[in-house]
Amino acid sequence: MLKRRLSLQITVMLFIATLLTAPLSTLGQKTSPVAPNRAQVEAVVREAYDKFKNDTGGKNADYIPYLAQVDPKLFGIAIVTTDNQVVSTGDITYSFSIQSISKVFSQALAMEELGADKFFDKVGSEPTGRAFNSVPAVADMPTHTGNPYVNAGAISTVSLISAGTADEKWTKILNFYSRAAGEKLVLIDEVYKSEAATNTGNKALSMLLAKYDRIYADPFESVDVYTKQCSVGVNVVQLARMGATLANNGKNPATGEQVVKAEYVPEILSTMIMAGLYDGSGGWAWHVGLPAKSGVGGGIVAIVPGKGAIAVFAPPLDAAGNSVKAQKVIEHIASKLDLNLFSPRSVGLRGE
Ligand code: DON
Repeated sequence: MLKRRLSLQITVMLFIATLLTAPLSTLGQKTSPVAPNRAQVEAVVREAYDKFKNDTGGKNADYIPYLAQVDPKLFGIAIVTTDNQVVSTGDITYSFSIQSISKVFSQALAMEELGADKFFDKVGSEPTGRAFNSVPAVADMPTHTGNPYVNAGAISTVSLISAGTADEKWTKILNFYSRAAGEKLVLIDEVYKSEAATNTGNKALSMLLAKYDRIYADPFESVDVYTKQCSVGVNVVQLARMGATLANNGKNPATGEQVVKAEYVPEILSTMIMAGLYDGSGGWAWHVGLPAKSGVGGGIVAIVPGKGAIAVFAPPLDAAGNSVKAQKVIEHIASKLDLNLFSPRSVGLRGE
């Protein structure tokens, strides 16, 4: 009896000792598929933040006047895992416009309605080899719009989403994005107004699409809803959670809701690897090896299938329209944590 009590006391003492010696950041944390060692992930995120925080490469987008005056020093990093662990640092509550990253989720919504084959048939999923807002790309491709991430394809995608009115369509899109983020997202009205006042190029694209019968609702109305979807505000944690929903086979890791049908996730991720960074996509696949999507607001989200997503926000962009700092940070994290999908190291094979 005495022996049993003694052994119970020893067990309790050992348990308390373990709790006291464990690093604070790992207490109360589940083990995670992307972060089996959470302390290591935190260290890599901190290291990336420190390494690149003073990087001055790139320039804010200025063709949307609002974006030109966003503080170029803003900088935030977030990782959300498929079991909803969050590791984040920097400007993590700042709400920036989602811009072209929205196109991934409108693609998902349109695929839900049309099915993959019909969507591919109407919008396509091939590289265009041209800038994201290219007019000649539309004229050169008479049978489809290239892919859902160039502006023409994204406007065409919006036109395919069914709704009685433009307002109804906008509400449907915003609700869908919110379900992917696991919380209510809102429009940044100033971004919307700024872009709506200057988006003559997108209106021209919509007219050209109409000429080739590749827009499926009123052209200007489609551009307007598209402009709103690009002006949805997200912070870097919300964006990482939207990515983690895709990483988690379409199921939001925070709410448990199946937002995107699992069967469409591989097609969406393959579109992202092929065209997510426009003319930077090949180099990105080469160096980083993760499906990703950029936006001219300065965000990039990269998906690690089955594990989680990395989102970075830093406004200055390169010539292709991709955040310079976000690319460097994600490349650094993916390399340190062996996340490149094309590297055998990502599944633990180290070689000789
Ligand atoms: O239509 C546009 O030009 C913007 N609303 C979105 C472009 C964009 O984000 C391109 N991405 N890097």
